[in-house]
Amino acid sequence: MDAPTPISMNDGHSMPQLGFGTWKVGGRSDAVVLEALRAGYRSIDTAAAYANEEGVGLALAGSGIAREELFVATKLWNDSHGYDRALRAFDESVRRLGLDYLDLYLIHWPVPKNDLYVDAWKALIELRKEGRVRSIGVSNFNADHLERIIDATGVVPAVNQVELHPAFQQRPLRAVHERLGIRTESWSPLGRGAVLGDPAVAKLAGKHGRTPAQVVLRWHLEQGIITIPKSSNPERMRENLGALSFRLDAADMDLLAALDTGQRLSGDPETFG
Ligand code: A2P
Repeated sequence: MDAPTPISMNDGHSMPQLGFGTWKVGGRSDAVVLEALRAGYRSIDTAAAYANEEGVGLALAGSGIAREELFVATKLWNDSHGYDRALRAFDESVRRLGLDYLDLYLIHWPVPKNDLYVDAWKALIELRKEGRVRSIGVSNFNADHLERIIDATGVVPAVNQVELHPAFQQRPLRAVHERLGIRTESWSPLGRGAVLGDPAVAKLAGKHGRTPAQVVLRWHLEQGIITIPKSSNPERMRENLGALSFRLDAADMDLLAALDTGQRLSGDPETFG
């Protein structure tokens, strides 16, 4: 198996392009994450809102893997926006994770109706200055939210983690990321499984002797997207890492480009939270 390839970010740090997502991994998050680490994942994505940071921390500690080989990301929840609250929420997250620094901290959603995400962003900038987190970014931010935090602080997020899969390809937002130097990270990269039965995906799986999930994850990787598939099943964890070891060609990518419906499966950043 190939090692998860690192991808550079605008702050001089890099992160594995393929990581392990932990949303809804279930009650034994420690066992699931330990299994993922054993399968070869080194990047783990969690969030205060997933209520599994302690389980993730147990798995990290129990894995015996050196801290510098791990890349750990968590997210600031919507009820902790604002400067002081964000600083306190960060302390709580790293305590639950059992870490003394974090690799990546994200604002989970902008929650425009509360209008506190700029202050939260200022707190993340301070945490990075203090060396408590190496990279800072956001999640579920639209172009106007990105521009607002950049205008207010001059600091460009390293990543924006958004819903993205072949049925919702986010081309306009990705063009904004490209212009601003922000890495795109995809959540629900398999579209909650919905695209796995698509005939075009099946055709490419047959052509390459791969599974539909490997084809879809490879589609993310070919485009320089960082992705974090979730699976509670050890075989599927390993299957998903197999996306690292083959290529899709231009014609394959054209076939998958046609699957975009422009429809989200989940929350709209303008209204969620
Ligand atoms: P499971 O945990 O039982 O493997 P997304 O990341 O797009 O939200 O999709 C997550 C869903 O896809 C989960 O329900 C997960 O179920 C399933 N899944 C993860 N990997 C695979 C795979 N290789 N093949 C089929 N389903 C998968």
